[in-house]
Amino acid sequence: MATEAQEYMNGLRPGPLTREIPECMRDKYTIIQTVLDVLTFLMLAIGHVIQGIYKSIVGVPKKDLQGSIALVTGGGGGLGSLIALRLARLGCVIVLWDINERGQ
Ligand SMILES: NC(=O)c1ccc[n+]([C@@H]2O[C@H](COP(=O)([O-])OP(=O)(O)OC[C@H]3O[C@@H](n4cnc5c(N)ncnc54)[C@H](O)[C@@H]3O)[C@@H](O)[C@H]2O)c1
Repeated sequence: MATEAQEYMNGLRPGPLTREIPECMRDKYTIIQTVLDVLTFLMLAIGHVIQGIYKSIVGVPKKDLQGSIALVTGGGGGLGSLIALRLARLGCVIVLWDINERGQ
C-alpha cells in the first residue's frame, strides 16, 4: 500500500488529486502540473511587473491622513521623530512613545 510519504519520495506531490490518478497516468500528470505551475508563476510575475510599471508611471492615489491619530514608537529621536514631524505636517494627531522622556 502506497503512503503519501512514499508517493512524495517517488517524485509525486502529495495532493487531493494524486491518489485519484491511475498509476500509468501519474508521470504525465506530474509533467502537466509542473507546466501549469510554471505558467501560473510566469503569468503572476508578469502581472506584478506590469502593475509595478503602471504604478510607477501613473502613481498611486495618496491616503488623506488629515485628523488621523498616529502612534509613533521611538518618536523621541532619530527616524521616529522625523516620521512624527512628517505625519504632523500631513495633519495627523501624533502620540509619541519613547523610553527617552526628554527626547532630542
Ligand atoms: N537609521 C537608519 O538608517 C536605520 C535603517 C534601517 C532600520 N533602522 C531601524 O529603525 C529604528 C530607529 O532607528 P533610529 O536610527 O531612528 O534609532 P535611534 O536610536 O536614533 O532612535 C530610536 C529611538 O527609539 C527609542 N526607543 C528605544 N527603545 C525603545 C522602547 N523599548 N520603547 C520606546 N522607545 C524606544 C530611543 O529612545 C530613541 O529615541 C531602529 O530599530 C533601527 O534599527 C534604522
